Amino acid sequence: MNIKDLQTKFQSLSAQDGLQAVSQLFPKKVVFSSSLGQEDQVITHLIANSNLDIDIFSLDTGRLFPEAYTLLEDTIRKYKKDIKIYFPEQEAVSEFVNTKGINAFFKSVKNRKECCFIRKVKPLQKALQGYEIWVTGLRAEQSDNRQAMTNIEFDEINKIIKYHPLLHWTYDEMIAYIKKQNIPYNPLHDQNFISIGCAPCTRAIFEGEHPRAGRWYWEQSAKECGLHATYFDKK
Ligand code: ADX
Ligand code: SF4
Repeated sequence: MNIKDLQTKFQSLSAQDGLQAVSQLFPKKVVFSSSLGQEDQVITHLIANSNLDIDIFSLDTGRLFPEAYTLLEDTIRKYKKDIKIYFPEQEAVSEFVNTKGINAFFKSVKNRKECCFIRKVKPLQKALQGYEIWVTGLRAEQSDNRQAMTNIEFDEINKIIKYHPLLHWTYDEMIAYIKKQNIPYNPLHDQNFISIGCAPCTRAIFEGEHPRAGRWYWEQSAKECGLHATYFDKK
């Protein structure tokens, strides 16, 4: 099936049916990246509850909130589903921190992107090795960059097909589903942290602010870390 056919097939499928279909079409070749955000917790729930043949990984940047680690353990315990953890290369982190500073990401967008590259993008490339489909928790509502996406797309950089099962879910739908299904989530979400990344680079949002305003809150950039590079590079 080519990308166009996949797009046509998947645009009418629910998240649950889409995840099931993708795991059957690409046995042992589907992997889901979880940041442990609310979207990702919904997807983990869908995968684990139906025992789908989809592997899950998370990128530990070394700068996550303590709450993320607690949630990671709780999630693995609840769903009895392995979540493989990838780490940045020690040498690269050490070189960056010792030449530029432990919190160098505050000093310039260039430094920040370099830190994201070392701690997220490089480990991601490793995590995707050997797979044909990469499932993500992206939602169109999250940003202008993400509005233009289709739920199946080809990532030219990582040479992999991406599938975003929750692309057209609204924030309210997602929250209602989490409550109804009693899905574990990061308690910081209840303190106005909507989009959560690394601890130093995330703050709670104020009333009326954009949901991603708390990410790299001191920057005027496109607010992307480079994992979803197709859109990142256009900005
Ligand atoms: S980011 O590009 O700004 O960091 P965001 O936090 O919105 O991304 O998350 C979007 C999707 O990227 C998540 O649903 C998840 O699939 C993937 N992702 C982001 N951060 C991580 C992470 N630390 N580990 C694994 N996947 C991640
Ligand atoms: Fe580094 Fe901040 Fe990017 Fe995390 S979000 S990898 S700490 S710059």
